[in-house]
Amino acid sequence: MMAQGDLELDDPVEEHRALHATESRIAIAGHPLHAMLVAFPIALTMSVLGTDLLYWWTGDVFWARAAGWASFGAFLMGVLAGLTGTVELLMVRGIRNRSASWTHFILAVMLLSILGANWGIRIGNFEDAVLPLGLMMSLLAAGLTALTGWHGGKLVFDYQIGMKLVHPRSDADS
Ligand code: HEM
Repeated sequence: MMAQGDLELDDPVEEHRALHATESRIAIAGHPLHAMLVAFPIALTMSVLGTDLLYWWTGDVFWARAAGWASFGAFLMGVLAGLTGTVELLMVRGIRNRSASWTHFILAVMLLSILGANWGIRIGNFEDAVLPLGLMMSLLAAGLTALTGWHGGKLVFDYQIGMKLVHPRSDADS
């Protein structure tokens, strides 16, 4: 029996058994490809920020060139990770019915557009592009990467999205 003052919140997704299917479909032997790929755009985005800062500090053109290549890699790998995530989002009912999945999608698409622009401004102009615009875009991209990555982790740890549940929740449990 609920004590007076206790608040019980309903979770409409929890109440529907069909929406409990959250297992990744874009996976190799049960290991989600998205989770494997996201490490690359995360690391490369941080590398662009690091190399931009090193160029600002040293003035050595090597760092501007490295930033140009890293920005290309961050965008390319981000798009690949985004594609695997999007197919997962659209294909798996229990994933697309969670509003949190769509929040992650919106954050990620904003991030990908910044990554694309941060690479675009450097094409054929990798040295001049760094200060100040490139560095500012790298800072923005690093912040958005932190938000998107943290939120992706929330999907997995809070809602078990992408996971194979060993003891699937049943209607009786909810
Ligand atoms: C563009 C569309 C994207 C969609 C639709 C999407 C969707 C998802 C989904 C459904 C999951 C749950 C795990 C799974 O099913 O594999 C997830 C996890 C995650 N996502 Fe994304 N994602 C997108 C882009 C990105 C990007 C660009 C990043 C890079 C910052 C990112 C970072 C993460 C992280 C770190 C996790 C947690 C992985 C884990 O700990 O297993 N996602 N995403």
